[in-house]
Amino acid sequence: MTTLGIIGAGHIGTALAQAALAAGHDVVISNSRGPETLTELVSALEARPGRRGQVRADTAAGAAAAADLAVVTIPLKAVPHVPVEPLAGKVVIDTNNYYPQRDGQVAELDDESTTTAELLQAHLPTSRVVKAFNHIGAADITGDATPAGTPHRRALAVAGDDAAAKEQVVAFIDAIGFDTVDLGPLAEGWRIQRDTPGYGARLDAEGLRAATAAAKRYRDM
Ligand SMILES: NC(=O)c1ccc[n+]([C@@H]2O[C@H](COP(=O)([O-])OP(=O)(O)OC[C@H]3O[C@@H](n4cnc5c(N)ncnc54)[C@H](OP(=O)(O)O)[C@@H]3O)[C@@H](O)[C@H]2O)c1
Repeated sequence: MTTLGIIGAGHIGTALAQAALAAGHDVVISNSRGPETLTELVSALEARPGRRGQVRADTAAGAAAAADLAVVTIPLKAVPHVPVEPLAGKVVIDTNNYYPQRDGQVAELDDESTTTAELLQAHLPTSRVVKAFNHIGAADITGDATPAGTPHRRALAVAGDDAAAKEQVVAFIDAIGFDTVDLGPLAEGWRIQRDTPGYGARLDAEGLRAATAAAKRYRDM
């Protein structure tokens, strides 16, 4: 049994909690305002039919400390507030996207000298960041899940610099209902960023491979 430590209890954090609990993982979930603001969410998660794991709320640092596998799923502008020390050495999934109207302009993203996940990796230098779940709508995380072997099973992209970390994330994604397509290192995560062909599209592994291969940098669009 793995404990998923979730930093960010919004649309994606909640959907990942639902999926993880149904797959038999334990969940510790957090937001910016403190665990006392998550009582209703924890009750709703506990009440979901099919739940197999245990769930509780904590601070972001507490969720990070409890995590065997962590998720950072917050507005990009909040990344500097993610606790660093309790995530040291851990595998951290980055779901985040860059929306300048929400996050403000980020010069290194505007000039495409880095990517969103590399920004999180720079903030968490000893963690092993894996990009995943940034291109699926929150409701589809439970809505589109199917068992392994289902024809045309939906696939999700992963990118990361650490092969073992990526394997752990691929196993988690398979357990909650999706195939995966490996984009390579973290720097290749742009292939599934906002406005690329695979972003939000419901594709199987073959379709997602083709979509990410056809992706263009913003500067070439
Ligand atoms: N929505 C989607 O379908 C979707 C799909 C793919 C990827 N994404 C990306 O995934 C990320 C999360 O999206 P979302 O739609 O789930 O966001 P959301 O619904 O707006 O929720 C954001 C969550 O982050 C928490 N948060 C903010 N700052 C924090 C901090 N410093 N420490 C801990 N928690 C913090 C918020 O807590 P408080 O409320 O307490 O501030 C809130 O629970 C974004 O980067 C988004 O672009 C979203």
